[in-house]
Amino acid sequence: MENKNIGVEREHWGSRFGFIMAAAGSAIGLGNIWRFPYLAGDNGGAAFIIVYLIAAFLIGFTVMLCEFAIGRAGQQNAIGSFKKLAAGTPWWITGAFGVLAAFLILSFYGVVAGWTMAYVWMTISGSFTGVPADQLPGIFVGFITNPIQPIIWQAIFMVLTVGIVIAGIKGGIEKWSKILMPAIVAILFILMFRGMTLEGGMAGVAFILNPDWSQITGKVILAALGQAFFSLSLGMGTMITYGSYLEKKENMPSSAATVIGLDTGIAILAGFAIFPALFAVGLEPSQGAGLVFMVLPAVFDTIPFGMFFGTIFFLLLAIAALTSAISILEVVVAYVKDEFNIPRATTSVVVGFVIFLLGVTASLSMGAWSHIVIPWPGTEGINLFDFYDNFSAKVLLPLGGLLISLFTVWVWKPENAFREITNEGKLSFAWLPAFKIMAGIIAPIVIVIVLLYGFGVFGAGI
Ligand code: TRP
Repeated sequence: MENKNIGVEREHWGSRFGFIMAAAGSAIGLGNIWRFPYLAGDNGGAAFIIVYLIAAFLIGFTVMLCEFAIGRAGQQNAIGSFKKLAAGTPWWITGAFGVLAAFLILSFYGVVAGWTMAYVWMTISGSFTGVPADQLPGIFVGFITNPIQPIIWQAIFMVLTVGIVIAGIKGGIEKWSKILMPAIVAILFILMFRGMTLEGGMAGVAFILNPDWSQITGKVILAALGQAFFSLSLGMGTMITYGSYLEKKENMPSSAATVIGLDTGIAILAGFAIFPALFAVGLEPSQGAGLVFMVLPAVFDTIPFGMFFGTIFFLLLAIAALTSAISILEVVVAYVKDEFNIPRATTSVVVGFVIFLLGVTASLSMGAWSHIVIPWPGTEGINLFDFYDNFSAKVLLPLGGLLISLFTVWVWKPENAFREITNEGKLSFAWLPAFKIMAGIIAPIVIVIVLLYGFGVFGAGI
């Protein structure tokens, strides 16, 4: 389809700081504070965390830089940028996978963000005050299996997401993120110190710091790789789309390193905030998706002004989820609006509504529809919520990352990628030769092996 926006000046970020904040705002979200701790808990703790760190800094950095470069050079959405850089080839399909992944990810993401908002309300209204820790799992399960309430909260969250995406990319997000991020870090520190000083809390620190290598299986490595992609918003075209709003003069390698540093720092901090408390209240680490919701209210109940801190915490988490959700929706909206010239507002509302409906199936699969099971290797079948989550993070995102890095080096060609990354040679980037090998050879091979191993193709695995 012919692109009607060519020649029209594309919207750009206000400043370098604004871009980093927006990219970090996309990366930092439920992935850090909800998904990372629960996966670490399910997959054995420290050993998972170490594999995760390697994946984030080696594979994640490489793919992020490829995405920024493709987006900024293409000056188009996730599909259009491929069409522009490799016209007449089928590589745009990489972007199309991303658009598909965006639907799946935002559907369950909106559900969890809805839980977070409900927890703001439940904390303010005193639902957790004086409640013994061992009753929190029951409260959580009771809430998420309810056929109506979680869907109402999910709807509110999706309306907010659509509203912000309609307002365009600069809007208030850049400004908010500056206040929001330090605040969330401060509360995580409070929780960390409180958790460690509770009796039995240090067992949680040991869980995070003492790796038990026997826990490492193909399944765990795939979970860690998928989490690196999920948490850094990679493999789906989010960072291509955000890169397309980037000015030519920005330093992309240092921006990528900053975003990864911030994102990883917050995930680790979240681990330190949650596991000591978990061991102190006597829960098992493998609580699955309910982990933070089952543990944190108990900690807030033991600190002065706990209701205040608890409310603020869940509120900030909901806002962090919002800055991530808009980046997921933006991938689809930027594509539809660029390619078909449909106004931003119409696209946002329609796409947001379809994603909401898909999310309703994810929410219902926790209770009323829990009998619907989808086959998944190594399990007896999983519900729709887990299917959307696993299929996107463990299949679509790694495949997207694989195609993006292969494309950069073998199709778009290193010369072009390097010219983009070094701002036409004006910027020195000492890691350039290493980057070429990483993006062209190592990252693709590692991703393929992890996928095969994770799905048990070599016998072991899942
Ligand atoms: N990274 C976000 C988080 O950790 C979620 C997210 C935003 C995302 N954009 C994405 C995940 C693109 C995968 C792909 O909460």
